[in-house]
Amino acid sequence: TVFDCNVIHLPRIHNRAGNITPVTNFTNIPFAVKRVYYLYDIPGGESRGAHGHKSLEQLIIAASGSFDITIDDGRNKKTVQLNRPNMGLHLKPGLWRDISNFSSGAICLVLASEHYNEKDYVRDYEEFIRLKNL
Ligand code: TYD
Repeated sequence: TVFDCNVIHLPRIHNRAGNITPVTNFTNIPFAVKRVYYLYDIPGGESRGAHGHKSLEQLIIAASGSFDITIDDGRNKKTVQLNRPNMGLHLKPGLWRDISNFSSGAICLVLASEHYNEKDYVRDYEEFIRLKNL
């Protein structure tokens, strides 16, 4: 694929009392998690993201509900719908992402490879394209 991202099918341990999905550093995901955050209470019609990262890796999971992630590598765009809690989208650095179409009650769980650092963000699309050196 031209994109530095791929869908990871996480384990789902199922029994009559429900499901559990474990995520283990370097086992289910190719990086170590340093930070976890989640988006919730997203008003209908809102979108999030609209930035790139210089070095951050992330695994994005719809822990509840569903939403669409549009990935742009500067040349091509593709949209992935996340709608199962045992499905994760792994994003490597250098991708512009938009997250939209949140279902009511959706929870967007993000496992990140680094602590929060505003300097790692690229929030201007023109700068993103310039940094990609395309
Ligand atoms: P931002 O990453 O811009 O949100 P999104 O991409 O989901 O639309 O973050 C929104 C605000 O939250 C911004 O002021 C930075 C702050 N923030 C933290 O302080 N720590 C964090 O770990 C994250 C992800 C955001």
